[in-house]
Amino acid sequence: MTDVFKGNFTQQEPIPEAAIEAAVDVMRHGRLHRYNVADGEAGETTLLEEEFAAQMGAPYALAVASGGYALATALRAVGVKPGDRVLTNAFTLAPVPGSIASVGARPVYVGVTEALTLDLEDLAGQLAQADHPKVLMLSHMRGHLCDMDRLMEICDAAGVTVIEDCAHTMGARWNGTLSGRHGAVGCYSCQTYKHVNSGEGGLLVTSDEEIAARAIMLSGSYMLYSRHRAAPDPEVFERVKYVTPNISGRMDNLRAAILRPQLQDLEAQVDRWNARYRRLEAGLRDTPGLTVIDRPEPEHFVGSSIQFLLLDWSADGVEDVLRRCAARGVELKWFGAPEPVAFTSRYDSWRYADAPAMPKTDRVLAGIIDMRVPLTFSLEDCDQIARIIRSEVSAVFQAGGAAPGV
Ligand SMILES: Cc1ncc(COP(=O)(O)O)c(C=O)c1O
Repeated sequence: MTDVFKGNFTQQEPIPEAAIEAAVDVMRHGRLHRYNVADGEAGETTLLEEEFAAQMGAPYALAVASGGYALATALRAVGVKPGDRVLTNAFTLAPVPGSIASVGARPVYVGVTEALTLDLEDLAGQLAQADHPKVLMLSHMRGHLCDMDRLMEICDAAGVTVIEDCAHTMGARWNGTLSGRHGAVGCYSCQTYKHVNSGEGGLLVTSDEEIAARAIMLSGSYMLYSRHRAAPDPEVFERVKYVTPNISGRMDNLRAAILRPQLQDLEAQVDRWNARYRRLEAGLRDTPGLTVIDRPEPEHFVGSSIQFLLLDWSADGVEDVLRRCAARGVELKWFGAPEPVAFTSRYDSWRYADAPAMPKTDRVLAGIIDMRVPLTFSLEDCDQIARIIRSEVSAVFQAGGAAPGV
């Protein structure tokens, strides 16, 4: 009988009981708006920021409505203006170039390597131009960290401000430094498919007091900014408060209540994700025609999704693999599809941004296969999924379906 996987790729774990209780408490007292606090009460959102700042080793943190909102806020807070160009990854998802477009700026794409990280040679080449962009929105797409030491050297030498999109790297590290703590701002998503789940939500951290004050004002703090704890002193707000627009995007106390206990569990959850990732990786390794992405030694990643390459395969061959795996219950996504599908898109899907041809990047994107790894999967589920992928990739490969033009 054919092996068919019966699990659900979009089913997350339930919200922990402590978070449910905290959420019910907030609903019982009714003070959901972050600035609606009783005498002497800090409020869940303020406490979340304080705890997240400590966890990330950052002096300042801000909780907002979504990860995409955190990205746009970071861009505004570092001074990006309409018409500016902002460097970003060609391999990422719609909210990243979208955040750049949302502030009236223009995305300028940097290529991707076969390790699925930002092509640092391409970056250095673009920064060698006299009129290069002054900001890089670096997306740690699908959790792959580039050599962050080298990246910061390149950007510091060129005077480029780095904003880190850590939607897929909350809890990850490069050479021991937490993701989001290399650049000027680290932005995180708390949306259901990320590493903590409040449905929607975002966080940002920074060590720069003016960026922090501007971000807090931008998020819609009115003149209530002194209620923030992971925030700079009042005199910093005095410098920015009349020139920083209020672009409402606050987090509320209900979401913050759901998130606080989850953040306490983050490291344990990362270990659980990585145990699943390693089982999948081991099951896929040495499959003919399939390239496993080797993770560099300095990278401590979060295996909440896994990617592999069907490099230089024909589109028909890849589509055949996707169809065959889907028929056996395994949902794979492909970055080579000509049209954006569900959450998956490519840099050249978006007509609002210039997308000059990037042949090296296109070759890699055309080979990227992507799969979610929800924590509701057991280790045995991961073994079974890897077996199914392995057998279907092998079948198509051996039948010659991988050859370009076939
Ligand atoms: C790479 C990346 N960056 C940013 C975001 C934005 O996060 P949010 O959905 O919380 O706005 C996402 C969301 O899917 C993402 O995948």
